[in-house]
Amino acid sequence: MKILLSADDIQRRVAEMAQQIADDYRGQSVTIVGVLTGCLMFLADLVRHLDLPLRIGLLQASSYRGATTTPGLLRVQLELLPDLRGRHVLLLDDILDTGQTLAYLNRHLQTLDVASLRIAVLLRKEGRQQVPLHVDYRGFDIPDAFVVGYGLDYNDEYRHLPYVAVLNL
Ligand code: XMP
Repeated sequence: MKILLSADDIQRRVAEMAQQIADDYRGQSVTIVGVLTGCLMFLADLVRHLDLPLRIGLLQASSYRGATTTPGLLRVQLELLPDLRGRHVLLLDDILDTGQTLAYLNRHLQTLDVASLRIAVLLRKEGRQQVPLHVDYRGFDIPDAFVVGYGLDYNDEYRHLPYVAVLNL
């Protein structure tokens, strides 16, 4: 597999993103809502840099795409989500591809009377977005290839890798 982003590249960028997020929220309490399962590494590394009062919430989203890059039917589970009313929410996902998942979650969270809602992604695939969506924080723009590692999987494998690599399908 070709390594696209080394563990060092990722750690450096996540620390920079945390600095920007901490500056923007300036001591306000924030609720980070991570999209399982891909957000795990990004979430765990980011929050350890954040010197802010914060809570962590989780939800699960999957689009049954398997190895393909065509999004399938989106399935969302919200059982793990805490009460977000009146909270400053930062929605966190591993990768922005077509934008379908985050656009849906963005619309849903807006209905929960949150005080504010921002979006952070580690990766954005260039030239793939089909749904208009404003992303407030993004780590890296990457080419349109299937990537694994640092939370991203192929059939639930490779998530544990500390780097991001291109998987040749
Ligand atoms: P959309 O199209 O809704 O997709 O923006 C977001 C979700 O699709 C998955 N995805 C990938 N997973 N390697 C992966 O392991 C990839 O290259 C890739 N592209 C999209 C991922 O679950 C993401 O949250």
